Amino acid sequence: MFLSAVWALILTAPIHCRASMAELLVITAATEVNDGYLRFMRTIRQFNYTVQVLGLGEEWKGGDVARTVGGGQKVRWLKKELEKHKDKQNMVIMFVDSYDVILASGPEELLKKFSRFSHRVVFSAEGFCWPDQRLASKYPVVHHGKRYLNSGGVRVCGRDMLFEFLHKYCVTLNDNVTLFRSSVFKKWSKRKEKLQLNYLGNYVPSAWTYEHGCGICDDDLLDLNGDEEMPLVHVAVFIEQPTPFLEEFLERLATLIYPHTRLRLFIHNNVVYHEQHVEQFWTRHRSLFPGARIIGPEENLRQDQARTMAVEACKKDVSCDYFFSIDSDVALTNPDVLRILIEENKAVIAPMLSRHGKLWSNFWGALSPEGFYSRSEDYIDIVQSKRVGLWNVPYITQVYLIRGETLRSRLAPVSLYQQEGMDPDMIFCKSVREQGVFMFVSNRDEFGRLISSTNYNISRLHPDMWQIFDNPVDWREKYIHEDYSKIFEDDENFVEQPCPDVYWFPAFSERMCDELVETMEDFGGWSGGKNKDERLSGGYENVPTVDIHMNQIQYEKEWLKFLKDYIVPVTEKLYPGYYPKVYIFIFL
Ligand SMILES: *[C@@H]1O[C@H](CO)[C@@H](O)[C@H](O)[C@H]1NC(C)=O
Ligand SMILES: *[C@@H]1O[C@H](CO)[C@@H](O)[C@H](O)[C@H]1NC(C)=O
Ligand SMILES: *[C@@H]1O[C@H](CO)[C@@H](O)[C@H](O)[C@H]1NC(C)=O
Repeated sequence: MFLSAVWALILTAPIHCRASMAELLVITAATEVNDGYLRFMRTIRQFNYTVQVLGLGEEWKGGDVARTVGGGQKVRWLKKELEKHKDKQNMVIMFVDSYDVILASGPEELLKKFSRFSHRVVFSAEGFCWPDQRLASKYPVVHHGKRYLNSGGVRVCGRDMLFEFLHKYCVTLNDNVTLFRSSVFKKWSKRKEKLQLNYLGNYVPSAWTYEHGCGICDDDLLDLNGDEEMPLVHVAVFIEQPTPFLEEFLERLATLIYPHTRLRLFIHNNVVYHEQHVEQFWTRHRSLFPGARIIGPEENLRQDQARTMAVEACKKDVSCDYFFSIDSDVALTNPDVLRILIEENKAVIAPMLSRHGKLWSNFWGALSPEGFYSRSEDYIDIVQSKRVGLWNVPYITQVYLIRGETLRSRLAPVSLYQQEGMDPDMIFCKSVREQGVFMFVSNRDEFGRLISSTNYNISRLHPDMWQIFDNPVDWREKYIHEDYSKIFEDDENFVEQPCPDVYWFPAFSERMCDELVETMEDFGGWSGGKNKDERLSGGYENVPTVDIHMNQIQYEKEWLKFLKDYIVPVTEKLYPGYYPKVYIFIFL
């Protein structure tokens, strides 16, 4: 987990050093200016902290730089820096990391909290034992707050203490963080100094943090008005499993509001069943997408290879301003999505999407210590748009926009999708995180939803018809008549009544009528005969009913759902106060 690397190691001189008189200096270590560093420095400026940055421009030799500038090198820099302050009696020094730290309150509050400890050295604590879980049992049990030492900051008040401390506990250290932490811990506890394992209130945030919508504040302001100047976007589409409503998905590519001359389309279709849909799409819209590249299932390209191929194409093309990756189970119903995301001006950004009415989304709010899903405290509020903004998150998937320049620089050294034993989405996010590039998800606009493809049965003739449960919104858009909702408007004459108690109103779309008829015919004909001939020669029944036909085509559950959701409300409108049972004959 990201914040595990924060240290707050605080040293204080005895009694005479009162926080109110103290001067506070923040010391941090960073070897490169990355997103995390810039965020840290914004909070430093926000609260007017005095800061000293160690290590910028120096080569890092301390090990796992992705997690933190950690280990012995950091401590050596710190020692050297502290020489300069050794005569300042009233100085309190706080040593913190920068990439994964933000300061959430000002110096005054920090000093107040610090003085309450009445200890010379205070470490911050954390909820799990990193980097070596095996040391966990060696820590004392705490009854409140967090149990494990966190490795990240020193506050010094007065000179001697710090030198004593660093001298005794740090001189023998190499660049091994584990060793450092365990040795500090052991020696310190041997001296029977009571170790403060208190969590310092809001000094370190416990979750991934909100970024103010600082969208277009500094660098390249984009002029999105002149067509010629629109950034060139490589759009990469991945159809990796049978996906409901794929025709609609493809159709949306053609209706994106963006000059198509500035798009380069790449499609990887790994599903034989969908070849027909890609072909139809291509026949209709090929003129919109010059220079497109379509790779079908016959090429036997694995998902990770296809993703790598697409991203490499943008990397190699210096005119590629953005790489937009989109999976087939994403329904981007906002045609302005590209312009909106580009205007947010981030290196990596995803539009926030979730499954209709569900908490299942395309981002994670936090990571578990093992690097898997963990729910952040604000996750639900973000998914439900009760909190709206641009969110810095550790994991995004299915659809995102990456700046081409970032691919060619910060992300250039890493393989974004290929690594033994890991799924491409996990590799992608891990690599981006490790390069110190922030990923954002935006819920400032409505972008669409995710499609569920878990119960998609392509042995059916028209499998989308069965999706009324899993993908109700898409089902409605495809199969319910566009005028259906007018039934509930004020126009009394909209529902016709050709004879008493018989009503005419639009319910199904043309598409539904066609597919239902085709499905019945494919099964062997309407009630009254197994096939057309039998039927014409006079069969047993001439209405399709729930109990016979719908269950013959295994559509009973879906049909009842349709009746409940779409027909019952109509009868309630026509017969106010009468609550019908769902038991209806439909004449087609
Ligand atoms: C920070 O310092 C500036 C200039 O001295 C001052 O105007 C501002 O109010 C200070 N901000 C805070 C949060 O103390
Ligand atoms: C770091 O120190 C720990 C604890 O002594 C040891 O188990 C581990 O092997 C060391 N790691 C390296 C890379 O030296
Ligand atoms: C998938 O559809 C086929 C053909 O309609 C049907 O026989 C089969 O039972 C279905 N499978 C599932 C899991 O519903």
